[in-house]
Amino acid sequence: MRDLEILTETDKESLELPRTSLEENNVTGKRKLYIESYGCQMNFSDSEIVTSILQEGGYSTTANFENADVILLNTCAIRENAEQKVRNRLNNFGYLKKKRPDLVVGVLGCMAERLKTKFLEEEKIVDIVAGPDSYRDLPNLLSEAEDGHKAINVFLSKEETYADISPVRLNSNGVTAFVSIMRGCDNMCSFCVVPYTRGRERSRDVYSIIKECQDLLDNGYKEVTLLGQNVDSYKWTSEDGLEKVNFAQLLERVALISPDLRVRFSTSHPKDITDEVLYTIKKYENICKYIHLPAQSGSSRILKMMNRTYDREWYINRIDSIRNILGEDCGISQDMIVGFCTETEEDHQQTLSLIEYVKYDYGYMFSYSERPGTPAAKKYVDDIPAKVKQKRLAEVIDLQLKLSLERNNRAIGQVQKVLVEGFSKRSEDFLQGRNDQNKKVIFPKEVHKKGDYVMVKITSCSSATLKGEPENS
Ligand code: SAH
Ligand code: SF4
Ligand code: F3S
Repeated sequence: MRDLEILTETDKESLELPRTSLEENNVTGKRKLYIESYGCQMNFSDSEIVTSILQEGGYSTTANFENADVILLNTCAIRENAEQKVRNRLNNFGYLKKKRPDLVVGVLGCMAERLKTKFLEEEKIVDIVAGPDSYRDLPNLLSEAEDGHKAINVFLSKEETYADISPVRLNSNGVTAFVSIMRGCDNMCSFCVVPYTRGRERSRDVYSIIKECQDLLDNGYKEVTLLGQNVDSYKWTSEDGLEKVNFAQLLERVALISPDLRVRFSTSHPKDITDEVLYTIKKYENICKYIHLPAQSGSSRILKMMNRTYDREWYINRIDSIRNILGEDCGISQDMIVGFCTETEEDHQQTLSLIEYVKYDYGYMFSYSERPGTPAAKKYVDDIPAKVKQKRLAEVIDLQLKLSLERNNRAIGQVQKVLVEGFSKRSEDFLQGRNDQNKKVIFPKEVHKKGDYVMVKITSCSSATLKGEPENS
């Protein structure tokens, strides 16, 4: 069964669609690399690190896998269907490998880390298995594979942050970029595979983060998204112990690089997001008034079983603080899981009522998918029938779509600052960009271009997109 994952915002289609190394950078004689990424933004960001490491190692990139000497899949293990997608894709590559036995196929990322040597046993076409902390070793792993040996490195590090590596921007619009600020996760939510696939939480050196953001600005970028599984627990201490930086202070430092550089961040954890962070967001015009705050469930009983370490009241208190400090127009989005072990109709109604209370701008909703080895898989029975999960998922999606439309309707008549990311998909007479709340806004091009900030008066909307007219042009 395929989950109805979504939703109202197209950007996260990236969760679904593989992204490839589009830049054609073929230098004669160099071995050619094709890389495809699945899963979350952290994985897309890691593929940019991998490409950088391999370019240093003498590889060029290709957008066409049929021309590649090396095919790498950067994989996700978050739900069963994420893994199924990778297996299907590997089957597609199987025929190519039959024609060209020298082709090297590698799997990177979370599924590689989860399955380890099993991957080599189960999928005969795989030559290399490399976990998220082993990418510096890829040139060695590749040369072993090129000599005809299978190669694996799934060592998880407590220190690796790839701080010194300048990512090679893949699929870039030249305007917005992701910057990884931490790796791993120490939270142990009972349903989640990430602590096992990405290891312990560690924060990247603040100076390397600032430098990367400054370099992006110097190269014409206008927006950075600071990435981590739980950005609010960012904590960096200098080697001499004298300098300590928390997430609010990091946000401030990045915001101060330039008022022209927009700052976003993802993901916030409800137990860790502080009022200090909210006041920092308020203080700087260039920090976007938008918070992705996954709830996972509206039922305190289920949240306890999920080991989320907050309850419904705590979550609502955080939402109230966001509204009090940042106002009604601050964008808020959610992740929800339906059909977690033992979830009753009453628990499900609590999730619906939480969604109704918060009035999220959009959300990403999933059916619970049991992941082997997680605390939930060990302690609880995945007892909610697929049909019930599907029905509950459809209900949360329907409600969210209705609220997304209501929230977007609020924007009609407002003049919003939009950062242009490029032409609209349908026509080069229109541009598309994002407002503060991370919503897609489409408007007539007139004199504007990619990378411009444009004040746009919103005139109409759907549940996913706003449309408008540029002011004063
Ligand atoms: N660090 C983020 C989440 C990262 S995973 C956080 O804590 O919020 C992205 C989303 O996938 C999660 O928020 C959750 O909604 C969903 N997810 C994770 N494990 C899942 C599972 N086993 N089944 C279904 N959805 C899951
Ligand atoms: Fe997974 Fe929880 Fe960590 Fe998010 S905070 S990555 S859901 S363990
Ligand atoms: Fe998937 Fe790993 Fe991200 S499991 S969601 S790619 S951290």
